[in-house]
Amino acid sequence: MEKKLQAILTEAKSSESSIQSMPALDQFKAGIVGSKGSMTEIMKGMKALPKEEKPEFGKKINLVKKELETLFAKVRERLEESDLAKKLGPPVDPTLPSPNLSGGGLHPLTQIREEMVATLNKIGFSVVEGTEAETEWFCFDALNTPEDHPARDEQDTLFFNEDTVFSNVTKKEEERYLLRTHTSSVQIRTMLDRKPPIRVIAPGRVFRRDTVDATHSANFHQFEGLYVDEAVTVRDLKALLDYLLKSLFGDKVKTRLRPSFFPFTEPSYEVDLISPNLGKLSNQWIEVMGCGMVDPKVFESVGYEGSEISGLAFGIGIERIAMLRHGVDDIRHFYQNDLRFLNQFNR
Ligand code: DAH
Repeated sequence: MEKKLQAILTEAKSSESSIQSMPALDQFKAGIVGSKGSMTEIMKGMKALPKEEKPEFGKKINLVKKELETLFAKVRERLEESDLAKKLGPPVDPTLPSPNLSGGGLHPLTQIREEMVATLNKIGFSVVEGTEAETEWFCFDALNTPEDHPARDEQDTLFFNEDTVFSNVTKKEEERYLLRTHTSSVQIRTMLDRKPPIRVIAPGRVFRRDTVDATHSANFHQFEGLYVDEAVTVRDLKALLDYLLKSLFGDKVKTRLRPSFFPFTEPSYEVDLISPNLGKLSNQWIEVMGCGMVDPKVFESVGYEGSEISGLAFGIGIERIAMLRHGVDDIRHFYQNDLRFLNQFNR
C-alpha cells in the first residue's frame, strides 16, 4: 500500500509538467483524487488494514494528499500565468516611443506667427506682451484716439461691466476695462517701460464686437511692430515691411504704401502687395496691413521728450496673412478645429 502511495506521488510529479490547460488539470486531478481516482482507491483499501496500522497509514495518506494539493495549486498558478501572458501579448518596453505617433502639428496661425517672429528676430526685434483685458487709456487715449473716435464705439469695442476688477491691470477711477481691440496698446505698455532705442514686436489676440462672417471674427490675432530711435524714417518703414512681406510671400512680391489714417501714426499708410503667385489673387494689389510713423502725440503720452526721437509702427492681421498665403477663403476655418483642415498645414 505504501509503495502504491509513493508511486502515485512520483507519477503525479513526473507528469505535472505536461498539463497545458485547465480541463487537462481537472482530468489529472480526477484521476488521482476523483471518485475513481488512484488515491481514492487506496483510501477505500484502508478499511481492510488491521486497526493498529490505520492511524499510522492515515498520517501518511494525509502527507501525500497535502503534497498533491500543493502540486495541483502550482500547476493552476502556472496555467493562469501563461493565460494572462497570452492575453497581454509580448512584453512591452514602456520607455520606447509609441510606434504610431500621429504627431500633431502647429496651428496654421501659430506657424505664421512663429515665422514672422523669427524673421524679425533676425533684424533685432524681440517679442513683448501686453494684457488682453486692457483699459481705455492704453487702448485709445494714449494712442491719440479721442473719446469721440468711432473705434471706441460700443459697437466695436467689448467693454467689461463697471464693477469688474483686474488686479494686474491698473486703471484710473473713471475708466472702463475693455478687451483690447488691437495690439497697438502694447506699444504704450512697452514705451512706458523702456527708453529708446526700442525694437519690439507684439503678437497677440484682439477682440471686436464684429458679426462673424467669412472675413470677420470677434476674436482674431494681430502682430504689432514698433521701432523707436533717433532719425527713423519712412524709408526704414518701407524697407522693413518689404523685408517682412518678401519673407512671407516670396521675393517676387512688390509692396506699396498708400496714404491712410490712423490716430497714432502720422503719416499713416495702408500697405498693399502684388504677387504673381497668390492663386486667384495673383497680379492684383491687395491691402494687407496698416503702418506709419509714430505720432508725436503718442510720444507725449508716454513721456518721451526731444525732437530727435522718431519711430515707425505697423500692425498686421495674422489671419489675413494666413488666408492669403494658403488661399483660405473663410476665416472661420481657423477656429473650428476640423482636422481635415488643420492636417493640411502639418509640415
Ligand atoms: N491698430 C490698427 C488696427 O487695429 C493697425 C495698425 C495700423 C497698427 C497702423 C499700427 C499702425 O501700429 O502703425 O487696425
